[in-house]
Amino acid sequence: MRRMLVAGNWKMQGSMHSTREWIDRVKVTSSPSCDRVVFPPFPYLGAAVEAATTGELAVGAQDLSEHAEGAYTGEVAASMLRDMGAEYVLVGHSERRQYHAESDAVVAAKFLAAVSAGLQPVLCLGETLEEREAGKTEEVIQRQLGTVLEQCGLSAFTAAIIAYEPIWAIGTGHTARPDQAQQIHAFIRSQLAGRDAKLARMTRLLYGGSVKPDNAAELFSEADIDGGLVGGASLQAADFLAICAAAC
Ligand code: 13P
Repeated sequence: MRRMLVAGNWKMQGSMHSTREWIDRVKVTSSPSCDRVVFPPFPYLGAAVEAATTGELAVGAQDLSEHAEGAYTGEVAASMLRDMGAEYVLVGHSERRQYHAESDAVVAAKFLAAVSAGLQPVLCLGETLEEREAGKTEEVIQRQLGTVLEQCGLSAFTAAIIAYEPIWAIGTGHTARPDQAQQIHAFIRSQLAGRDAKLARMTRLLYGGSVKPDNAAELFSEADIDGGLVGGASLQAADFLAICAAAC
């Protein structure tokens, strides 16, 4: 049985004060059958790691550099994130792909940089509305996942998590129906199973895109949905905790 995982991606929102308050509130609750991770903005990572001392909550970064070190002003290396106590990192979020022109190849390089530094990457995949309407969802997912598999190799996936985040569902309030999400999750698992059946069974597949306290339980009841990557609803500790409760 795969353990459920609920992750909160705050994106570029929050403050030092709200970070500490949120973590103090979440860390005192336990979730025996569900892992929890929070992805604050870079400047609050240190405070988040320091505040999340109980082991009930892990901390991750929203992005990383594909380079190990060097003259890359403004970039943050995987080893620096590990150094700060981050355990996870988002790789290839659609907002990075869209606004920072991250190609599949760059995403794969970041994935490898994360794994090499001992971070658990959360690889984000997802199609646009136009791609879905053109019947290209599986083709897009296959291309995005395939590039990472080819560039990084299967062994890089041992500690990886995959998040299916249809772009048309992110921040729009239009959640994918549970059966729509399940269909793509099953497709992602089949892509892994074609290469390694055990890896496919063990890899956690998160759904992201307008997950809220009132739709989480239905989504999480699907066979191949092992948790959620939550944006807007993760900003309030109470909503995040309600989503965690739906996963446990
Ligand atoms: P929303 O939950 O706000 O739709 O965001 C999803 C997301 O992008 C999480 O990474």
